Amino acid sequence: MLSIKNISKIYETKKKRVNAINNLSLDVSDGEIVCFLGPNGAGKTTSVEIIGNFITPTKGNIYLDGISINEKKKYLEKVGVLFEGNKGVVKFLTPYENMIYFCGLRGINKRTTSEKALMYIKELELEKYNNTRVNYLSKGNQQKVAIGCMLSMPVKLILLDEPTLGLDLDISNKIMKLFKREAKAMNKIFIITTHDAEFVEDVADRIVVLKEGNSQFIGTPKEFIEKMGSKRLRDAYLKFFEVK
Ligand SMILES: Nc1ncnc2c1ncn2[C@@H]1O[C@H](COP(=O)(O)OP(=O)(O)OP(=O)(O)O)[C@@H](O)[C@H]1O
Ligand SMILES: [Mg+2]
Repeated sequence: MLSIKNISKIYETKKKRVNAINNLSLDVSDGEIVCFLGPNGAGKTTSVEIIGNFITPTKGNIYLDGISINEKKKYLEKVGVLFEGNKGVVKFLTPYENMIYFCGLRGINKRTTSEKALMYIKELELEKYNNTRVNYLSKGNQQKVAIGCMLSMPVKLILLDEPTLGLDLDISNKIMKLFKREAKAMNKIFIITTHDAEFVEDVADRIVVLKEGNSQFIGTPKEFIEKMGSKRLRDAYLKFFEVK
């Protein structure tokens, strides 16, 4: 279980003070997918950076299976993070080699990873790039490689910041469904940020709707749709940010 306890992040620059995240609390069960939704500047990336221990919150604490984020090494062994923009790939390796490499960093041997890596290569439709260095792939395909690396790793919590940004509609849908299957089959926790509610409706167990650092709603997509009197999550989301 992931427990986010009252985290806040204030950025202070010479000119201004930004409350990027305000008193966010959330418990996420094993096997659950929670999507953070919100417009630009809402605090989605900041949330992922805090939960992934890249930045320190101004206040609050986080526990994963009872291990505090302050026990950095133990905590991070259980966490995989993918930031926006393919930062999680080694450009001179092939997709398969990337997956083996990233699992190797976690102490997982090639034999254990190999089968999984090949499976994700197939599911992410990367087979024809099997022998191509990632450097030569399109941005979208590089993103798919980074996602494959993330899924191959034996971690408990997977954090994905805008994983479908720049990907085609059908592959975005496929990837989100892959996340869902993986969460349920492996009992992993997924925290996914996006500003496109489209892909989230059938995948998220719960959504967190963020605006200017404040969580405005935490619940199931269905609850949010009903609250807004809409039919689809995308409409509910657009309506929410229109009327507020
Ligand atoms: N290093 C920083 N220094 C100062 N302010 C920052 C810093 N990083 C983020 N912010 C501010 O914090 C707020 C939240 O930013 P964040 O990047 O988390 O939003 P986001 O929801 O990920 O937006 P986007 O959809 O554009 O990716 C914004 O007002 C942003 O300008
Ligand atoms: Mg962001």
